[in-house]
Amino acid sequence: MRILILGGDGYLGWPTAMYLSRRGHEVGVVDNFAKRRWEKELNIMPLVPIPPLEERVRIWQQVTGLPIHAVTADLCDYPQTKEILRDFRPDAIVHYGEQPSAPFSMMDQHRSVFTQTNNITGTLNLLWAMREHAPRCHLVKLGTMGEYGTPNIDIEEGFIEIEHNGRRDVLPFPKQPGSFYHLSKVHDSHNILFACRVWNLRSTDLNQGVVYGIETDETALHPELVTSFHYDEVFGTALNRFCVQAVAGVPLTVYGQGRQKRGFLNIRDTLRCVELALLNPPGIGEYRVFNQFTEIFSVLELAELVKRQGEKLGLSVKLQHLKNPRVEAETHYYNARHQKLLELGLEPHRLSDVLIDSMLARIQENAQRIRPEIILPRVQWDHASSHPSSQAAAREGKGKQRRSVLEESVKAAKI
Ligand SMILES: NC(=O)c1ccc[n+]([C@@H]2O[C@H](COP(=O)([O-])OP(=O)(O)OC[C@H]3O[C@@H](n4cnc5c(N)ncnc54)[C@H](O)[C@@H]3O)[C@@H](O)[C@H]2O)c1
Repeated sequence: MRILILGGDGYLGWPTAMYLSRRGHEVGVVDNFAKRRWEKELNIMPLVPIPPLEERVRIWQQVTGLPIHAVTADLCDYPQTKEILRDFRPDAIVHYGEQPSAPFSMMDQHRSVFTQTNNITGTLNLLWAMREHAPRCHLVKLGTMGEYGTPNIDIEEGFIEIEHNGRRDVLPFPKQPGSFYHLSKVHDSHNILFACRVWNLRSTDLNQGVVYGIETDETALHPELVTSFHYDEVFGTALNRFCVQAVAGVPLTVYGQGRQKRGFLNIRDTLRCVELALLNPPGIGEYRVFNQFTEIFSVLELAELVKRQGEKLGLSVKLQHLKNPRVEAETHYYNARHQKLLELGLEPHRLSDVLIDSMLARIQENAQRIRPEIILPRVQWDHASSHPSSQAAAREGKGKQRRSVLEESVKAAKI
């Protein structure tokens, strides 16, 4: 297949590009490097510095003999998006190209507006471009399990059969997202469903759980093929962050009681799930949803797992319960279905002691790079953010960060 990976410079996009290239697909990656700009603005960086995309593409070709085509483009720029689809003529598109952080979207007004503008405009542009230039192409869109929230009933895969006043229908599962970022994904889902219904496009919406892991078979081929592993409060996810804290010798910071339950999956399973969706496309006009995670853990369970494994390796690991910066239920029912990818053949990499050990070992190799000061949460859901970048932005609009975020959102809104 000819496959375009949008957001191909990111944590998941780059490993996906290599994985699919190695399996014989013709792969193109698109990115506007916005993530690298946000990192600069917030003064944070991945654990290991990431070579420029062009350099990674060059090394990939050198190591494997396989080409990956890289294009710099902003999905919020409609002419650019159209041109890419027209020129590349994809059979499928894997869309990772969005602002992916809930804390970023809750940090201040500018970043909240930016998140929704960037994510929703980019996806809507893509749908229009598909309609014009690639109407049979299969869109595999990354959504999140966080779209559903934590209802007191079982979570289905996208749709639920409801009986109301004696009548029955199958309707989109109700959404109770927990941040403006998660809301952007809900809005995307509605737009995609509508475009499939009205224009006969076809799409798989992958409601993905929280991803953990540093390495895939392809990143391991060469040190410069690494992917961007974040452990900071804004872009770092729970397990990744706990592993770094264990190695750094600082307490693992559990938000609130830590009883919040979520679906998790290994980065290797993300790649396989995307591949399974691509190899088993939906019919013309079909919009389907797969819940993409393999195991459910509470945040405290994860912290305790990391503590146990860390101590076996001789690390001194402590847990610290912090006042929860998020507004979310801490004690709740959680049972989400995730059958469809298993039925297509997914064989999950479960979170084992060996896996945590290997993550800790990789992090230990880079222990000198860890900056513990970027881990503690400063973004609060119900208070003004104490993040220095937001405070600078709030000071009468003179901050550099504010200008750049604002400029980006205004530019995107115009288009
Ligand atoms: N990592 C997770 O745990 C996780 C969980 C659930 C869902 N997701 C979703 O998966 C996708 C990828 O996540 P990730 O962790 O790799 O994020 P990431 O930030 O590392 O990658 C996203 C990439 O998209 C690019 N991008 C953003 N806006 C763009 C635009 N307008 N035009 C072109 N490129 C743009 C960024 O520069 C970045 O390289 C996101 O949509 C995210 O919401 C991730």
